[in-house]
Amino acid sequence: MRIGILGAGRMADALGTQWARAGHELMVSGRAPEKAAALAERIGPAARVGTFREAATFGDAVLLAIRDDGVQDVLAAAGAADGTLQGRVLVDCTNPVVPEKLTLKTAGGPSMAERVAAATRAHVVKAFNLCHEDVWRMTPPVFDGVKLAVPLCGDDPDALALVRTLVTGLGCEPIDGGALERAALLEATAAFMIGLWFSGANAQAVIPPLKYAFGAH
Ligand SMILES: NC(=O)c1ccc[n+]([C@@H]2O[C@H](COP(=O)([O-])OP(=O)(O)OC[C@H]3O[C@@H](n4cnc5c(N)ncnc54)[C@H](OP(=O)(O)O)[C@@H]3O)[C@@H](O)[C@H]2O)c1
Repeated sequence: MRIGILGAGRMADALGTQWARAGHELMVSGRAPEKAAALAERIGPAARVGTFREAATFGDAVLLAIRDDGVQDVLAAAGAADGTLQGRVLVDCTNPVVPEKLTLKTAGGPSMAERVAAATRAHVVKAFNLCHEDVWRMTPPVFDGVKLAVPLCGDDPDALALVRTLVTGLGCEPIDGGALERAALLEATAAFMIGLWFSGANAQAVIPPLKYAFGAH
């Protein structure tokens, strides 16, 4: 498949590298064209560089891998107001987290994923926001023999099916996280987990096994 990437930072690098390995064609874009070109070169022959607008219209899916405070500017530069992203599959991995407090900048309003959907009229799927970039670089991310599970929130069945193939291509297990209106929960989960990790807690240990989820019997 052809994947346009908005962003040339760490998540663009981690996921782009993996998707190139999985056989996809990529177009990388960034506000500093030389940084995007360097990333495309690092990824290899499967990747080329383009403008935000070119990456938005490159192919079958678009990855939004921009720091939250730059998202709306980048969507504007990608031509969102002209409909360049309308009806496209857009994977949103952003986390609008206040760095010091580890709360959400979007608290009290729509999630970042819903804001992206409103600005683009794309079929947005929230995904890949719960793990550090180095986890996405693992081939594959398997812990204690269990594949990493990747929850997806989105409204469009075809978009969700496409993103599930991107997840399985990384050796991970896609999980249905519900509709896009639940993306706020994924964004909040990231903020909460990051807080636990920074405090040195084993965040994985806060969740009981499934058989205890609804009681002990
Ligand atoms: N890194 C992780 O482990 C991780 C994990 C899960 C989710 N996320 C989320 O994924 C998104 C990307 O993270 P990242 O680690 O890849 O970030 P990053 O490396 O810091 O930067 C990503 C991209 O955002 C661009 N950018 C930053 N501020 C901008 C602005 N004001 N206007 C336009 N572009 C701007 C950067 O451009 P320049 O290179 O020119 O600065 C870069 O192309 C973030 O929303 C983050 O919360 C990150």
